[in-house]
Amino acid sequence: MPRGKCRVCGREAEYWVPWANAWFCRDHYIEYYNRRIKRVWDKYFPNDPGDTLIAVSGGKDSVALLYSVSKILMEKGVRHNVLFIDLGIPGYSDESLKIVKWNAGRLGLNVEVARLEDYGFTLRDIHRLVKTRRIRRPVCSICGMIKRYLMNRYAYEHGYSLVLTGHNLDDMIGFTLASLVSGRIEDLVKLRPYVEGHDRLVARGKPLLFTYGVENKWYVEAIGARIVEAVCPYRTGESSVNTELRDAVLSVDKKHPGLAILMARNTVDKLIPRIRLPGKTLVRCSVCGYPSSSDPCGFCRLREKVSRLLSSKKK
Ligand code: AMP
Ligand code: FES
Ligand code: ZN
Ligand code: ZN
Repeated sequence: MPRGKCRVCGREAEYWVPWANAWFCRDHYIEYYNRRIKRVWDKYFPNDPGDTLIAVSGGKDSVALLYSVSKILMEKGVRHNVLFIDLGIPGYSDESLKIVKWNAGRLGLNVEVARLEDYGFTLRDIHRLVKTRRIRRPVCSICGMIKRYLMNRYAYEHGYSLVLTGHNLDDMIGFTLASLVSGRIEDLVKLRPYVEGHDRLVARGKPLLFTYGVENKWYVEAIGARIVEAVCPYRTGESSVNTELRDAVLSVDKKHPGLAILMARNTVDKLIPRIRLPGKTLVRCSVCGYPSSSDPCGFCRLREKVSRLLSSKKK
């Protein structure tokens, strides 16, 4: 397609945005993107969410989140910092932290680090135990559970009221369809852009839920941000039902731009409010004291198992 003119200023454009049916120059693409995130914020988030942590892994999505949301929070005068979770993945975690610090430094923000090692193990240990089949669950799924736990615990212990993550529209579509296919409709409530906190569960937010991965990629490029190029060495690269369903919808979206956004909006605004949750009661984990659906919680069970397996190896 020949390069067009920016819809706003008429200068030579750089970005073709199919779902907006528009070309934008760099500056106006940045403006368009920021406006999109601000609209999501105004619709779903409290005006004053309290002290906020932005969870940044260094990937394109969370780096885009960092810049766009920090701008909103700055304008609102909301205190915010960056959270990095150091999972102890050799080479990868340190590299990622450097990139996160570089971006945060550009915005004058502090990076707070939650270390898995402080709990007596790292993801490297998990990887070994999975490889030798002493733990039978994919590394990435364990990793996801660990990250959710550490994010919440760190935020709670340090007095934060909200944790933001960079989950994007592509992930959201895959998750939605997989929930429909499996019949676990109640899982869809996890896709609310903002979930209030209670007890020791800190509020969670996903401001990029309606933003395509590619939009985030263009945004970090347009603002000159740096992102982690390396991929996690423990990622298997296997396609899952989630990723295949996601790719199928994104390929239809190519012919019908904006279809994925529409699907996500309808899921959040029309479907989720109609889901009645079975009264799942949370208990308090007798080991760590955090709310959980089981006692001990998944993290404490894992921690105990890893410690047992690692010490039996030493003997
Ligand atoms: P993932 O589970 O890797 O898809 O990541 C989802 C979101 O969790 C990212 O967009 C980040 O906001 C956050 N996240 C993932 N890994 C880290 C990390 N190591 N440190 C801080 N935040 C993270
Ligand atoms: Fe979680 Fe690689 S970052 S398994
Ligand atoms: Zn322009
Ligand atoms: Zn626990």
